Amino acid sequence: MTLGPADNGDDLDRIMEVMAGSFAPEYGEAWNRRQVSDSLLLAGTRYCLIGADGSLAPPGEDPVAGFALLRSMFDEEELLLFAVLPQYRGKGLGAALLGAVIADANARGISRLFLEMRRNNPAGKLYARFGFRTIGIRPRYYRLASGERLDALSQELIITAK
Ligand SMILES: CC(C)(COP(=O)(O)OP(=O)(O)OC[C@H]1O[C@@H](n2cnc3c(N)ncnc32)[C@H](O)[C@@H]1OP(=O)(O)O)[C@@H](O)C(=O)NCCC(=O)NCCS
Repeated sequence: MTLGPADNGDDLDRIMEVMAGSFAPEYGEAWNRRQVSDSLLLAGTRYCLIGADGSLAPPGEDPVAGFALLRSMFDEEELLLFAVLPQYRGKGLGAALLGAVIADANARGISRLFLEMRRNNPAGKLYARFGFRTIGIRPRYYRLASGERLDALSQELIITAK
């Protein structure tokens, strides 16, 4: 697993490559390069890359398929961004990445993992499979490019120490 902060500009390039292809523009969820690089300067921020072949921390010459960006504070961590490029979806890479992120959080003593997602995001099925549950709703939190508003669901996973 690749851990931040990113001292490796190549990894930032690879995160941005996945970012550019993964988030539908109408939701306005993608971060720009500056937002990612600034976040990686903050203590407790880490990232994980997954390769097209399912390898974690793939070497720079291997195609990258997805990434996760997280920030922790004490024994809690937030999954800030999580994406797999469309051409690599539906093959279990998202599940492998999320599983690795949870195992790594567990190993570092994290007891609660949080995320925020827009209601009806199909990713919710994946999160539910790993045991995330909705603990709060922010009505009309996301504003789409169309002007439409969507609720945000705050989700939590309690990690049982192993
Ligand atoms: C969420 C995401 C990372 C999943 O990646 P993935 O590699 O396709 O994940 P997997 O193949 O391991 O599993 C996908 C599972 O989640 C569901 N799923 C997740 N995203 C989905 C999507 N966009 N469309 C359809 N199903 C999706 C599927 O039902 C599937 O479950 P199944 O295997 O039981 O059919 C990917 O869809 C993505 O990058 N989405 C856009 C960015 C995003 O919304 N990120 C989450 C922000 S909260």
